[in-house]
Amino acid sequence: MLRNILRISVDKYTSTVVLGGRQFTLKCLSQTEVLEKKNTEAFVVRQPSSRSKAFSRPAFPATHAVSSSFKLPQLLVNVILRIPMMSSLITAPKGITSTRDISPPKSVRGMVTLDREKFKQKVYVPGILVSAQGIRDIVRHFNSHLLRLTKVQPFVDLSDDDPNVKKSRVMLLDPQQHPTKDSFTEEESDMLKSKGADPDTWQLYELDMEYENWNGEDIFKAVLPIESEGFSSYTVIGHIAHLNLKDALLDYKHLIGQVLIDKFKTIKTVVNKTNTIDNTFRNFQMEVIAGEDNFITTAKENGCQYKMDFSKVYWNSRLGTEHERIVKLLKPGDKLYDVFAGIGPFAVPAGKKKCTVLANDLNPESHKWLQENLKLNKVGGQVQTYNLDGREFIRTVAKADLVSWYREDKYPLQSVHFVMNLPAMALEFLDSFKGLLSGHPTILHENSVLPMVYCYCFSNASDHLEDIRERVATYLSKEVAQKVQIRFVRNVAPKKDMYCVIFQLDKCVLLWEGENEETGNSEECEPERKKSKHEDTVAH
Ligand SMILES: C[S@@+](CC[C@H](N)C(=O)[O-])C[C@H]1O[C@@H](n2cnc3c(N)ncnc32)[C@H](O)[C@@H]1O
Repeated sequence: MLRNILRISVDKYTSTVVLGGRQFTLKCLSQTEVLEKKNTEAFVVRQPSSRSKAFSRPAFPATHAVSSSFKLPQLLVNVILRIPMMSSLITAPKGITSTRDISPPKSVRGMVTLDREKFKQKVYVPGILVSAQGIRDIVRHFNSHLLRLTKVQPFVDLSDDDPNVKKSRVMLLDPQQHPTKDSFTEEESDMLKSKGADPDTWQLYELDMEYENWNGEDIFKAVLPIESEGFSSYTVIGHIAHLNLKDALLDYKHLIGQVLIDKFKTIKTVVNKTNTIDNTFRNFQMEVIAGEDNFITTAKENGCQYKMDFSKVYWNSRLGTEHERIVKLLKPGDKLYDVFAGIGPFAVPAGKKKCTVLANDLNPESHKWLQENLKLNKVGGQVQTYNLDGREFIRTVAKADLVSWYREDKYPLQSVHFVMNLPAMALEFLDSFKGLLSGHPTILHENSVLPMVYCYCFSNASDHLEDIRERVATYLSKEVAQKVQIRFVRNVAPKKDMYCVIFQLDKCVLLWEGENEETGNSEECEPERKKSKHEDTVAH
């Protein structure tokens, strides 16, 4: 008789599995063999495809006995245990009376080349008896107290051959919260008893842990030098995990990469950044530290998809909220000029929102993937692309487009927006707006909706507002500098923050008429004077 059917996710290194504290070797058998082989402890069949079929065909050669080096396919399988379940949990030896620490063996500290065999460790975990009927209720009230270990079920069946323990389970508990018998509060004890669990049956059970049972965090904590404070964050772009390792961890880079691939199914390539971004196209130099040498990947952000060659373009998963924030400001029918568009994280969702978008990037690779992403997201009809320097884009393409926008005046209620996300340099491009419409002095009228600019920059100054205003004054005008809104976006490095400078281009800037010839200095805008001059022109 089959005693239990459990579903587990088998990854490619698993040929053994620990269930209920016992380790089983998985054997792949055909359906006939399954029925014949009474003594097999555990075997694997593919998940039944319909309720009416007990078993479907095995997912790999039917007669193949799984050896320790055999790689199982990644799929959900049913593991069917035929052994009496009572023997699946072993109580801890008598001398062991309390527990707290569940971690890989101390001997793995400093391991540079991953040796999975070295992660085997006996651990002791607390458990109490519960009645099978009460489990659902207990999980609802006591979930945060249960043992959380990869591939270890917190509820373990006891034998139904023994009439005394019929329909009982051992509920394994978190050793941090229940290290001893008296670790239950009165309230907890009462609640457990009322649901059919007995805190007085607390005892320690022995589990044989191995590499598969530890999660990535356990492994990094056990292996990496204590003083390095572990390996912290990384970003994931499709199948690529992107790290920026501190020098102290570089010796461990291959181990870190391999553990990430083992522990996160979607990660197939792990790269480490090898320089700071200081090139024109803002892409990283990177080194593959584990997995496939494949940089073509697809990221998802705000309901859109972005395909790219991650080694050749700029992509930052941490900017999703910022992209969304700007796109939310746009209305259907608005005009967006995306001066440093990258592969399209402003342009694509703006196109989806039925804005008319002109998107530009100097990097031919970004431009290529931008076009690809317009197709992928079906917004080609809304977005035109350019492969120009940002200054040239503003002074030629955007200028011509703006002139016809204001001249035709077809959409008087729609807004115009410039987004400029090249924080290291974008402020220096602001002078491109000076006199952009000066050849068309009568084109703007009193009710023209003037363009909004969202220009990104970095600042590490203690008075960042002053620092940013000074730069706006240098590249555009003192008047605009006093009026800009400056919004914090994110911290990018110690003492280096990213900001968004927001302002409306006024007629004074757009109709500016060039340098003061006598002094060689730029004339400052005087909005009131320019405005009346413009009104005069209109009046005449
Ligand atoms: C920081 S990325 C921003 C990309 C995208 N807008 C985003 O938010 O992810 C800046 C982009 O500007 C492009 N770029 C750099 N210098 C440029 C220039 N002079 N003119 C136009 N694009 C430029 C880079 O290729 C890069 O794609």
